[in-house]
Amino acid sequence: MHRAVMPRIGTAQAWRDAARQFLAAGIPPEAILWGDTSTAPDLFGDTGAVQAGGQVSVPRSFISMASTVVWHTDRERFARLYAFLWRLKGTPHLMTDRGDAELSRLRTMEKNVHRCQHKMKAFVRFREIGDPEAPRRSFAAWFEPTYHTIEPTSDFFVRRFSDMDWRILTPEVSVVFENGTLSFREGQEKPALPEDASEQLWITYFQNIFNPARLMVKAMQSEMPKKYWKNMPEAAFIPQMIADAPARARAMAEAAPSLPPARMAQVQAQLAAHQSAWEGPSGALAGEIVACTRCPLHCNATQAVPGEGPMDADLMIVGEQPGDQEDLSGRPFVGPAGQLFDQIAGQAGLDRGQAFVTNAVKHFKFTPRGKRRLHQRPNASEIQHCRWWLDAEITQVRPKLILGMGATAAEGLTGRRDAILSRRGKVEETPSRTPVLLTLHPSYLLRLPDPQAKADATAQFRDDLKAAVQMLA
Ligand code: URA
Repeated sequence: MHRAVMPRIGTAQAWRDAARQFLAAGIPPEAILWGDTSTAPDLFGDTGAVQAGGQVSVPRSFISMASTVVWHTDRERFARLYAFLWRLKGTPHLMTDRGDAELSRLRTMEKNVHRCQHKMKAFVRFREIGDPEAPRRSFAAWFEPTYHTIEPTSDFFVRRFSDMDWRILTPEVSVVFENGTLSFREGQEKPALPEDASEQLWITYFQNIFNPARLMVKAMQSEMPKKYWKNMPEAAFIPQMIADAPARARAMAEAAPSLPPARMAQVQAQLAAHQSAWEGPSGALAGEIVACTRCPLHCNATQAVPGEGPMDADLMIVGEQPGDQEDLSGRPFVGPAGQLFDQIAGQAGLDRGQAFVTNAVKHFKFTPRGKRRLHQRPNASEIQHCRWWLDAEITQVRPKLILGMGATAAEGLTGRRDAILSRRGKVEETPSRTPVLLTLHPSYLLRLPDPQAKADATAQFRDDLKAAVQMLA
């Protein structure tokens, strides 16, 4: 009998090396006992020596699946993977056999680990533990992952927080990034971490983006499972917000303006002729956008942010790309630019709840600066890659009018890069002939330093929103 004990750190590489060696030496699954460092040693029989064998070739798709499944907590994961690999040797098409029960089980395990990695990216909350004035600031977070996801997810945090020191402490393994070097340590008990000054800001923000009219407790808990709540400062307020939601939603409904009658016959005729390249089933689009890896922007962003709103909206509103807060919450226009938009839209009689709100680019592009992430404008290639999704959203929603805010939206919608200031207030068209009313981006208004210029640009923006309302009346 052979035995293979996988280390807690470097597990993926260790499993790959061992599996290759066993496979090359022709050792069948039933002759190997796999375990990890938590497996009782007396479970193992004698270690048998492995004769060196020849080269083995393994499909890439299996390597990719195995590199994820090894981080699952199922004690049988290493043995399952090897048994499948053994069968794969004689049946190269097994990786595409949808009816294979063991493949399907491994795929489910892979999905669980990916989901856990996603939760970790979204729910880790850092607190400052060093001197805020130090050249390299220092942060720590406590996290309790469901699977062994610390090591495979650490790259994401290195990319995002490369210019500060940080550590993520967990009961099992901790990861430390100090002076540009990543290392792993033993797990530990939950430490007492200081309250973060930005925590109150985050709580206030979370309470503000909570929309009682869209409360779906089950969906919310599936996105943000309860077990993560205890380490997330904002989650303490969720029960009260849920309790208050019905009354707040009633108040919102009573205050909502009535809808203007919306008719544009010739535009509807043009839309009927419209075709887009994306042809998935209705309802699947947002899910596909969330899984997008069409351009490198997905590597650093927390998540893609698909559009939201009624799928039969007459008006589609298109911005540039998610900002910091949109990236964290997964919803478009919930940060400062979104709040300014909501305020001016209210003055212009535009009801955002009746519009489909989205962005030309679905992932947040930024450069890290300490704990902050500074917005970067998407380039022509990123806009071009994301047009696929924007076109698909337009095809599904079939709006009568699109409000394009800012130069990136204008480019994604019309394909033209000309300056937005000379185009705002005018109606152009998408290639599929949907009318596009162009206007400024609300964050442009936020950035204008001169009060008079800001007031003028805000008035123009308000006029453009009013024009959109009138065009649909
Ligand atoms: N800016 C945008 O263009 N879109 C958002 O969703 C947020 C800020």
